[in-house]
Amino acid sequence: MPENTWWKRGIVYQIYPRSFQDSNGDGIGDLEGIRRRLDHLAWLGVDAVWLSPFYPSPMADFGYDVADYCGVDPIFGSLGDFDRLVGEVHGRGLKLIVDFVPNHTSDQHEWFKESRSSRGSPKRDWYIWRDPAPGGGLPNNWNSNFGGPGWTFDAATGQYYYHAFLKEQPDLNWRNPQVRAAMHDVLRFWLRRGVDGFRVDVIWHLMKDEGFRDNPVNPAYQADQPDINRTLQIHSTDQPEVHGIIAGMRRVLEEFDDRVLIGEIYLPLDRLVTYYGENLTGAHLPFNFQLIHMAWRAQDIAALVEEYEGAIPPGGWPNWVLGNHDQARIAVRVGAAQARVAAMLLLTLRGTPTMYYGDELGISRVEIPPDAVQDPWERNEPGLGLGRDPQRTPMQWDGSPNAGFTTGRPWLPLTPDHGTRNVAMMQEDPSSILNLYRRLIQLRRRHLALSVGDYVGAHADGQVFAYERRFGTERLLVALNFGHAAQAVPLPEGVAGARVLLSTHASGEPAIHGQELALRPDEGVVLALS
Ligand code: NOJ
Repeated sequence: MPENTWWKRGIVYQIYPRSFQDSNGDGIGDLEGIRRRLDHLAWLGVDAVWLSPFYPSPMADFGYDVADYCGVDPIFGSLGDFDRLVGEVHGRGLKLIVDFVPNHTSDQHEWFKESRSSRGSPKRDWYIWRDPAPGGGLPNNWNSNFGGPGWTFDAATGQYYYHAFLKEQPDLNWRNPQVRAAMHDVLRFWLRRGVDGFRVDVIWHLMKDEGFRDNPVNPAYQADQPDINRTLQIHSTDQPEVHGIIAGMRRVLEEFDDRVLIGEIYLPLDRLVTYYGENLTGAHLPFNFQLIHMAWRAQDIAALVEEYEGAIPPGGWPNWVLGNHDQARIAVRVGAAQARVAAMLLLTLRGTPTMYYGDELGISRVEIPPDAVQDPWERNEPGLGLGRDPQRTPMQWDGSPNAGFTTGRPWLPLTPDHGTRNVAMMQEDPSSILNLYRRLIQLRRRHLALSVGDYVGAHADGQVFAYERRFGTERLLVALNFGHAAQAVPLPEGVAGARVLLSTHASGEPAIHGQELALRPDEGVVLALS
């Protein structure tokens, strides 16, 4: 794989289709809406778009409950709309990545309807059916990630089926070769339609312990935590056999040119990096969510970057993610000033960055009134702050009603400041975070050191994390102030000169006195060293 192939060099932009652009006034975004907004992505300068699911679905989990893997839900449009979208995405030199949800289907999928119809059904073994425990009750102690037990009893056939998520999302049995073959054909269906890759939902869940042993109880569980934290998921997820399944998907992708396999994996670093697979036969990019969970402190982030860089197997390519549709937005987690520093971090670390729609506007906290809650997790386990609606609110385009997202009633509220926090207004303001994102992306494109260059840790103490990116003779220094006070940063030894290429501050420049850089509060800079 060449060092500068698109998914190594490029920037991935995640779109949550319900929330990007509505084209028919039903208050929900759709594929045609996305097509009409491709100018924004081109203006911003990203390279690839990842679409969360748009497949036919009862929407119990907003599309992560798929009822037909080879179609488009009428809410989002048609296959014709999809084909038009792929064509235009490619016409602009961009790539299109789609979501693949192989761990579970909807309970309305024909496969599950057939499977649950009788114990003797030819598709019975396509899902995970177990007898009640001796004496009755749940087959084991596995919990659902969305609260309550992971097993639901089917009275008609007298067995339980397993669902790692909602009861409307029964888990497929990937030990069954027919399931594997059918799902490989789904991949081929979309690959032939031109998609450039897949983001694979909960890929570390695909295989479960063959003996269905109980998970150990979590000694650290506390009552204010979600149900899923009651036990440690060591038998229900991350089984050694999963790597063979992923290698199988990878082989399907390799029937086609230059496609990418991205895996969604929430595991500690040492486990995460096993998903590159033996001899790199696994995911090209096992999603690295470590920045989402790490305390926002210079030394912790520096230590994380070093540890991650050191853990990646030879030839494996790193990647970084700041947010997605399941996690509180970055501006909520770190505040408006540090969200700018976070943007610089994301776009200057070594590895493919994935950015989340709306983060380029600095969208922050959106209050969801109780009667507007949509997320099933929030409904199942209310009051714990688990709801994911706040990070799924509509994109804000301009000063018109509903910020140009819809002519109808948006399915979730916009931010209260959408009259000014929108693409049209912020494009005109050189100091906006939107223009900062664009400048960072342009800088990354201009300097190969920032995309494919080496990473060299330089300095981490107190509030500052600084690192170099090097390519050929070029040396760039990125210095990030994670604090709200000014900081002095020593330049690397032997450096004769330093020139500011970009600051996260809209005006002025940080002072450089001899061998010392004076960072202003909450400032990040990229310097060219000589
Ligand atoms: C991870 C997805 O990102 C999330 O939105 C979904 O609820 C679960 N997987 C279940 O598919």
